[in-house]
Amino acid sequence: MASLNDIRATFLDYFRRQGHEVVPSSPLVPRNDPTLMFVNSGMVQFKNLFTGVERRDYVRATTAQKCVRAGGKHNDLDNVGYTARHHTFFEMMGNFSFGDYFKTDAIPFAWELITKDFGIPKDRLYTTVYHTDDEAFEIWKKVGVPESRIIRIDTDDNFWRMGPTGPCGPCTEIFYDHGDHIWGGPPGSPEEDGDRFIEIWNIVFMQNEQFEDGSMVDLEMQSIDTGMGLERIGALLQGSNDNYDTDTMRGLIEASAHATSVDPDGDQNVHHRVIADHLRSTSFLIADGVMPSNEGRGYVLRRIMRRAMRHAHLLGAKDPVMHKLVPALVSNMGQAYAELGQAQALIEETLLLEETRFKQTLERGLRLLDEELAGLPEDSDLPGAAAFKLYDTYGFPLDLTQDALREKGRGVDTDGFDAAMEEQKAKARAAWSGSGETADASVWFDIAEDKGVTEFLGYDTEVAEGQIVALVSDGAQVDSANGAVQIVLNQTPFYAESGGQVGDSGTLKTETGQATITDTKKVAGVFIHIAEVTEGEISAGQGAELVVDHERRSAIRANHSATHLLHEALRGELGEHVAQRGSLNAQDRLRFDFSHSKALSVEELGRVETEVNAYIRQNSPVETRIMTPDDAREIGAQALFGEKYGDEVRVVSMGRAATGKGLDKETYSIELCGGTHVRQTGDIGLCVVLGDSASSAGVRRIEALTGEAARAHLRAQDQRLAEAALALKAQGAEVPERVKALLEERKALQNEVAQLRRELASGGAGGGAEAKDVNGTKFLAQVLQGVSGKDLPGIIDDHKARLGSGVVLLIADTGGKAAVAAGVTGDLTDKISAADIVRAVTPQLGGKGGGGRSDMAQGGGASAENAEAAIAAAEALLGG
Ligand code: SER
Repeated sequence: MASLNDIRATFLDYFRRQGHEVVPSSPLVPRNDPTLMFVNSGMVQFKNLFTGVERRDYVRATTAQKCVRAGGKHNDLDNVGYTARHHTFFEMMGNFSFGDYFKTDAIPFAWELITKDFGIPKDRLYTTVYHTDDEAFEIWKKVGVPESRIIRIDTDDNFWRMGPTGPCGPCTEIFYDHGDHIWGGPPGSPEEDGDRFIEIWNIVFMQNEQFEDGSMVDLEMQSIDTGMGLERIGALLQGSNDNYDTDTMRGLIEASAHATSVDPDGDQNVHHRVIADHLRSTSFLIADGVMPSNEGRGYVLRRIMRRAMRHAHLLGAKDPVMHKLVPALVSNMGQAYAELGQAQALIEETLLLEETRFKQTLERGLRLLDEELAGLPEDSDLPGAAAFKLYDTYGFPLDLTQDALREKGRGVDTDGFDAAMEEQKAKARAAWSGSGETADASVWFDIAEDKGVTEFLGYDTEVAEGQIVALVSDGAQVDSANGAVQIVLNQTPFYAESGGQVGDSGTLKTETGQATITDTKKVAGVFIHIAEVTEGEISAGQGAELVVDHERRSAIRANHSATHLLHEALRGELGEHVAQRGSLNAQDRLRFDFSHSKALSVEELGRVETEVNAYIRQNSPVETRIMTPDDAREIGAQALFGEKYGDEVRVVSMGRAATGKGLDKETYSIELCGGTHVRQTGDIGLCVVLGDSASSAGVRRIEALTGEAARAHLRAQDQRLAEAALALKAQGAEVPERVKALLEERKALQNEVAQLRRELASGGAGGGAEAKDVNGTKFLAQVLQGVSGKDLPGIIDDHKARLGSGVVLLIADTGGKAAVAAGVTGDLTDKISAADIVRAVTPQLGGKGGGGRSDMAQGGGASAENAEAAIAAAEALLGG
């Protein structure tokens, strides 16, 4: 029996042999369609090739595309488990031609693969064509389908559209007849909804494009888009009409049966089916970067997870079940989808945490539900307020409550639920407007309420399409804009400034204009792209191509991840008291403020820098997960002190350490963080700590550079060193020694000069430095040239020593100014004070006062011109 893996391989290999490029499945989150929640068919990733907007270096492609239908237009969630063919996750096999082959090849390809390679008996097959498509009718006849089995359909069933706009065209479908033991009729008959005749392949002749105003034009090229559900063809080839009987689904159902010890085929079988299906969608979504949350795609994921978890509960499971089934899924599908194995740990952990949390409230919520129902008249719907309470307090998504009620044959008052939800939003808004934040933010709240919050795609991509939901100019919404404007989109790869990380910049392009985005901020969950329309104009409602400035974002990312490593290295070096007090992660640098009261020594800074760089070189993956704040703290995550966190937090871990933290006790850094980070620590490149300074009392600030900025900084330092070496005529490495030697030499020379000056002065070279007797005291006065004020005390000491007893007065002409010093030997200080002499002398020199002790005093004047008069004043003071 061919397994689903064999069938997938056979399909891809058949078209590879027909000259098709085997293209990998695109991620489940569409990057090129802002209106689509999840990729729901094979053609999504090729959408722009059909319209000719995009070209690739192949014109034929084949894929096995991951698809999720659990939100938006195609929402199969409610039916899953209860029918033979509904799934939230399925694989669509497809072959595509972009302006290459058309009907005459597409039909024979499908026929050959189905009847030869897959060996499906021809007499079981029927085909349909769009009622006016004679060409397709003739081709089917030519390959051998009897006319009686080619059915013309005049409804939209045979005209395929991807949505209200976009490429479209008539289609032809292949049906399989499971036999008359099953009720149903051929397509177009009144019994067509039965399970007997099942569509297995849809071939779309992409030849038109539909526009918003309802008009349709012929496309320049004619293309092919086909889709065949792998599970459906698999069931058929494995002899069943139930997709859940295929080997892959059966394996998962058995894993569920094993984990819950409940018979896989008994009357509880529906629960196993739900679990098997939801395990696939949740695992693939997590592998593609979606995390459970309360908004957008993350909320759809959460709804699927919780639905599966409730069914596990119905099977009587006491402990979390879902995470135990992941290995079975990975072993079956991991080879075709490598991302599954790569994300296995994350998938298991996310499922375990979600199920653990949900279990805590599930029973109480279900009890509440029973109580509410008991108080109601038989058969009446559950009031909206009760359903809202289950949602708000117990985390029961509305569809989960509906699912639980469905078994009891009852419904929910959904209008009442919506009204309760509206009321809560209004309350939140009222609470916010009273919070004292800027008043002009009300426009953003209006937008959030009308259009919903912005979904951030930027953890996984820097390029995506979004739909412009509002344009704001001067605080008011406008329909279109050219010039300065603030743009809001339903989804965006642009990071909005928060948590110390600056907002992204980049470009936005629509059909009619182009804008430069200089910054991104957010209010009330709405991302505000601050922009300047540089070409044409842009309008609300348009689709837009968004491209984040890659280099800038990469530099910001490196700085942010380095900040986490720096934080941990500082804690290791200085102690556990180190806590973040603020940070800036910009393009050109990082700044980290932390609690610590002393300046860091050069050695401490050096060790911190060394450690950060060791973890950079370790090049270990940076991991992100979502958990409750309590769980995060339990595994040692660093959280901002005093910061309020919601129900769940994003936790970023990096680095492997022998004695680390986390569940594995080997993680180096774990922080609560909403920012964007490098994939591997090695992407930081290099980190250079510039220095540490005081930021405020008890808070130090470290600034550092990473990546190219760090390299450029080192290069500049090296350049300066080279210049210094050149000036010193030395090698770079010798510079410190040489500078030290030069400084020592300079000091020695300075001393020598001072000594020489002194000798020059006291040795009589100043001319007539003889003491004379003034009123019985030896008095030596001297006028000096070429000495400075600070040389004078030394000369005074020399003179005093020579005189033994006496008074010395020195007046130095210091080039335009005069310096004065007076000295009195110890035996005379009782009678006469050097300070008095200076004070008597300086006025003659155009100065004032002076100061010092009785044995030595100094002063200054404007000029040494009247030195003689000054000396005379000193003599007069001595009584001469
Ligand atoms: N786009 C078509 C479908 O989804 C054929 O692939 O059915």
